[in-house]
Amino acid sequence: MKYTTASSADWRYSTPAIVLHWVLAALIVFMAALGWWMMTVEHEPGGQRWMDLHKSIGLIVFVLVLARLAWRLTHKPEPLPAGMPAWQVQLSRLTHWLLYAAIVVLPATGILGASYSRGGLKFFGAPLPAWATPARATSELFFEIHSLLVWVLVALVALHVLAALKHLLLDRDEVFRRMWPRRHS
Ligand code: HEM
Ligand code: HEM
Repeated sequence: MKYTTASSADWRYSTPAIVLHWVLAALIVFMAALGWWMMTVEHEPGGQRWMDLHKSIGLIVFVLVLARLAWRLTHKPEPLPAGMPAWQVQLSRLTHWLLYAAIVVLPATGILGASYSRGGLKFFGAPLPAWATPARATSELFFEIHSLLVWVLVALVALHVLAALKHLLLDRDEVFRRMWPRRHS
């Protein structure tokens, strides 16, 4: 993928890409908040219900992320504006691929951790086929990685959001609009 020539100023990501971007952004932020909150009520009566909800919504997030990645691997965006410094173009490309990696691996470690746990994996109460023999140490290792990866994702999203706002408010170029639904007059 090369960003060498200027993009046409009115090019936008297509509707499926825009819908998936914003639906997933909302779901991922919600999942992180739910994840931290459920850990604080984990040992209280009914606390387990929140963890079950986290796992069930997490499975939906994982499927949507895979759909998004498949879409992205088959659709190349137009180059970024010609006026952008090369280092910013390269940094945005790196950040985007690291974001994709983080949003695939993060739910995957949750699924693996749950699969190796004694309770296994359930989707809104329905048990999913158990393919792993419960192993506490393995399950805990995956959850350890899961908890650490959340912070990697937080750092990437912070950088990403700051960059998006810089384009919107300071540079006032077309970059933000590329990911925003077209307004019909
Ligand atoms: C983008 C998706 C996800 C995000 C942002 C997310 C976020 C989090 C966060 C913030 C925590 C608390 C970590 C801590 O304080 O130690 C957590 C824990 C947990 N997550 Fe996720 N999660 C996601 C997907 C999943 C999925 C798909 C599953 C399983 C199907 C899952 C299962 C769990 C479990 C079981 C815990 C508790 C781990 C423990 O007991 O140490 N998560 N998650
Ligand atoms: C969990 C939250 C988010 C994730 C995981 C995420 C992920 C991504 C990824 C991977 C891309 C690259 C698209 C591609 O070329 O395939 C992208 C593009 C974009 N994102 Fe986000 N995003 C998140 C939240 C946000 C937020 C809150 C904003 C706005 C403040 C935003 C603004 C944008 C914009 C403007 C683009 C298009 C950049 C361009 O034109 O090349 N994103 N996002």
